[in-house]
Amino acid sequence: MDGSIGTPIPRRDAMAKATGAAQYAADFGHTGTAYAALKLSSVARGRITRVDTAAAEAVPGVQLVLTHRDMNQDLGAETFIMKGGHMQSSFMPLTSDEVHYSGQIVGLVVADTTEAAEQAARVLNLEYAAQHGFASIDDPGRTKNTVEKPEITVGDADAAMAKAPVRVDQEYSTPAQHHNPMELYATTASWNDGKLTVHSPSQWVMGQRAALATIFGIAAEEVHVVSPYIGGAFGCKATLLPHTVLVAAAARRLGRPVKLVVPRDAMFTVGSFRPATRNRIAFGAERDGTMVAMVHEAVGQTAEVDHIAFPGTNVTSRMYDIANIKTSESTIATDVNTPGFQRAPAEASSFFAFESAVDELAVALGMDPIELRIKNEPKVDPVKGLPWSSRSLVQCYRRGAELFGWDKRTPGVGSMQTDDGVLIGYGCATATYPSAMVPAAAHVALSADGLLRVRTSAHDVGTGAYTVLGQVAADVLGIADEHVRVELGDSDLPSGPMSGGSVTTGSAGSAVHMAAMALREKLLLVATAAKGPFAGRDPATLQFASGHVVGADGTAHSLADILKASPAGSLDASAEWKPDLMDAEKMQASLLGGFALEGPVTKTHAIYSFGAQFAEVRVDPLLRTIRVSRMVGAFACGRIINPRTARSNLAGGMVWGASFALLEQSQVDHPRARFANQDLAGYHISSCADIGEVTAEIVDETDTVVNAIGAKAVGEIGIVGMPAAIANAVYHATGIRVRKTPILIEDLLG
Ligand code: MOS
Repeated sequence: MDGSIGTPIPRRDAMAKATGAAQYAADFGHTGTAYAALKLSSVARGRITRVDTAAAEAVPGVQLVLTHRDMNQDLGAETFIMKGGHMQSSFMPLTSDEVHYSGQIVGLVVADTTEAAEQAARVLNLEYAAQHGFASIDDPGRTKNTVEKPEITVGDADAAMAKAPVRVDQEYSTPAQHHNPMELYATTASWNDGKLTVHSPSQWVMGQRAALATIFGIAAEEVHVVSPYIGGAFGCKATLLPHTVLVAAAARRLGRPVKLVVPRDAMFTVGSFRPATRNRIAFGAERDGTMVAMVHEAVGQTAEVDHIAFPGTNVTSRMYDIANIKTSESTIATDVNTPGFQRAPAEASSFFAFESAVDELAVALGMDPIELRIKNEPKVDPVKGLPWSSRSLVQCYRRGAELFGWDKRTPGVGSMQTDDGVLIGYGCATATYPSAMVPAAAHVALSADGLLRVRTSAHDVGTGAYTVLGQVAADVLGIADEHVRVELGDSDLPSGPMSGGSVTTGSAGSAVHMAAMALREKLLLVATAAKGPFAGRDPATLQFASGHVVGADGTAHSLADILKASPAGSLDASAEWKPDLMDAEKMQASLLGGFALEGPVTKTHAIYSFGAQFAEVRVDPLLRTIRVSRMVGAFACGRIINPRTARSNLAGGMVWGASFALLEQSQVDHPRARFANQDLAGYHISSCADIGEVTAEIVDETDTVVNAIGAKAVGEIGIVGMPAAIANAVYHATGIRVRKTPILIEDLLG
């Protein structure tokens, strides 16, 4: 099949995944592997006062029982102070007797079998001097800490707000939510001649390599991180998690490979989560709908061990043409594990609030919510005055409205019903996602058998990277899809980006494009050299198509024939790509596994993807159950390499958005300061039965600024507008404005 850019070819890894041939981290085996189990803290805060390992060590087959008393020697605490860097948390368990949160790793047991390890972990006896902890930002006495840097001030928002004839001012809240990818966290670590090999699902093998090398005091080349397949990763596998370090340390002590599969309940505390938020949003507008002032005060949950924030105000401040903007960000520290990236970390929660408030303003003005948004569409970035690299939001609204049938909406609350009295609500909201860029390297090779190999250490986290990165190279060289092989997810490959922040296609794709262009040049040189099949022709007159090089007169020679004229019978090329404005030093640090990105706001442009999202809800008039019967999203994300994988990402995000709106919340057990619903029975996520029709539409857009291939962010935008679109639809159906998620039956009882 023609696999060029824009072709909806199926996923290269589909068959391997569907048949079980794909090997995930926990599937890799080494002879002599020992198995680990975790002991987690049962208290939220305090100190470990006594450790009794006798019963654990007596379990047959137990090889190693590690607590904080042992690990200090292995792991110098100072190496973990890598905030915002490689580690998910700057707190490393087992390095002191302090307990900072419930579910903290307080012991690691290794045995010949998983069963023995689990049994020993159960009987590992720890005593605590416990203090009262707080796991919720609603707990009394929590203080707010202002995050200084992200404050944005344009004009005078307070003065403009005071004078505005129409105002809305509300607070919205979202709960903590937890990652629940199908694939559990899992690590197998083995040491060989001082070299460490780690199999662990990862969105950033180069980052894991760099961090593990630092922690164990060895060269980066002596660490090999392998993660070819990932069973879902939406930020939780982006950074190095502490248990991977502990497993590697245990393997070194034992001189044996050690494997740990983290159980589902432990996933809630050994990894990251989406923190709870409170967002105050205020708008001031003229009676004709012109927005004149905006205030966004964001408060996010963080951990006592790691004060971090996910500033949504950076994004909300760029949505409307408003002359007076004031934003602030603060955090409330709680006794929980460090929160982290979870699909659209800054945007998803803040846009529930922000786009609900826009709908409230439309109601206050008596305006159609789409027309209100279009009226305030900014020509340039309202904060910096920079041009957009591309912004097709109005086209997204027009196309989305047409597909959804927005013109059939009657604005009155409760005015639309089915024949049997079920309330129908229509709602919409804007989505956006920043297109940041990360340096990347790639290698492409064409062998005598006509196979094109594409290699970079980017990752396919389920997004389709194996497929689209191959298409980028195939497009340059005119090679059919079945002759392309792509290798990803291995730290021995040329350095790829962290596959987070929706950067992979644009960043790794640009490197692949450059490498393929370099290979094309080499092929042309060979083809037109004295012994080549096109000897003496001008290379500029030759085309690449269907595995051939074709002359202006129609003469065609296969790539295999051209390779025969090359000295080695094969050709390859490498490239390193960086965003235009990034300096070379930053690029090199990034390629070595450091973290450097350019954008979304550069010196010259503001670079974002945009989308318009629509929801139809049906609310039972008596039972008040809420069903999402239809969702439509229209998105403009620059050049789309593969419409099939792009639509899957967008639709998947929309499904998660519905889950966010109606189901997901980590329940806090306040007296014990812990997350209470740590399994898939208690933590609700949407399943097929919860989701009606989903339409993800792609709006054509050309972006010549963003990167070498014109591709903007696709991965995360799908979730961003959906929660507000659903909340707005619920209001339209019922007249009840629910300013928190999840929106539950009891919220509609009135
Ligand atoms: Mo995304 S939260 O960067 O996987």
